[in-house]
Amino acid sequence: MNFPEYRLRRLRRNENFRRLVRETRLSVDNLVYPLFVTFGKKVKRPIRSMPGQFQWSVDTLVKEVKRVRDLGIPAVLLFGVPRKKDEEGTGAFARDGIIQRAIRAIKDRVDDILVITDVCLCEYTNHGHCGILDGTEVDNDVTLGILAETAVSHAEAGADMVAPSAMMDGQVLAIREALDEEGYGMVPIMAYAAKYASSFYGPFREAAKSAPSFGDRKAYQMDAANADEALREITLDVEEGADIIMVKPALPYLDIIRRAKEEFDLPLAAYNVSGEYSMIKAAARLGWLDEERAMMESLTAIRRAGADIIITYFACEAAKVLRGKETK
Ligand code: PBG
Repeated sequence: MNFPEYRLRRLRRNENFRRLVRETRLSVDNLVYPLFVTFGKKVKRPIRSMPGQFQWSVDTLVKEVKRVRDLGIPAVLLFGVPRKKDEEGTGAFARDGIIQRAIRAIKDRVDDILVITDVCLCEYTNHGHCGILDGTEVDNDVTLGILAETAVSHAEAGADMVAPSAMMDGQVLAIREALDEEGYGMVPIMAYAAKYASSFYGPFREAAKSAPSFGDRKAYQMDAANADEALREITLDVEEGADIIMVKPALPYLDIIRRAKEEFDLPLAAYNVSGEYSMIKAAARLGWLDEERAMMESLTAIRRAGADIIITYFACEAAKVLRGKETK
């Protein structure tokens, strides 16, 4: 295969050739849309650092989830912004907590879409850390019980799948055992298995009002410099009973996604996080890049790296682009 007998440009000459040889497919089937739910009524509060994203109250959320369903997106991922926060994050597992009410309202009024819930304490603790404090450190084993109770309360309210994101050692096992004991053996766990301590969560922390009041998350989330350790993290979650494994963030960690895809045969999710979304939005607003093309290219790259599922704030916009292609 040498030039001039072989010319790679032959199969790039027009869109039909390119369609024939395209290796990676992005489909609406791959997408999960994250949503923020808060207290109050008729709330649709714009999130300043995430243009096009909002905090919803339960009533407006139900309508939004219907719209997401009508776009053909198979699942939403819910985050709670509670009215009150405390030392133990009790709002995370309260029977009438914000997420529990949101799940019930969606399950009552919207069919044919999966409700996945984030299981973590940072949105519910007054110190903003992902677990229970012992001095200035997060106590791993005490936190496990509360995460398990939170996951069970979500399942009880009707969640289709739980997604633990606190990065406590043993959290998948603790949640699996608790779900099984309480009769939710069929509720799968999507484990935030390799979650990095990332600057790209910045806009999310404004959206969920969950920035830590002191310190950072480096004592539980992973160091950006480590790749082998990600495989150890994922191995443990698989052994503890994860049904889907996740790498987070996505774009700066495509190498981790690729290695996870090669080493494990579980469905693999990648979280295209808030900062990845906001960067494109900001540059597009300044007229520095084409938003739709940058979005589709990024999502395709995450698929090409090996992700089966992409959690993305672009899900609705991407679904519209993908639909347009189908009807052309
Ligand atoms: C909760 C959680 C976070 C994100 C998802 N779950 C924030 C964090 O760890 O600080 C970030 C998602 C995003 O940036 O879009 N622990």
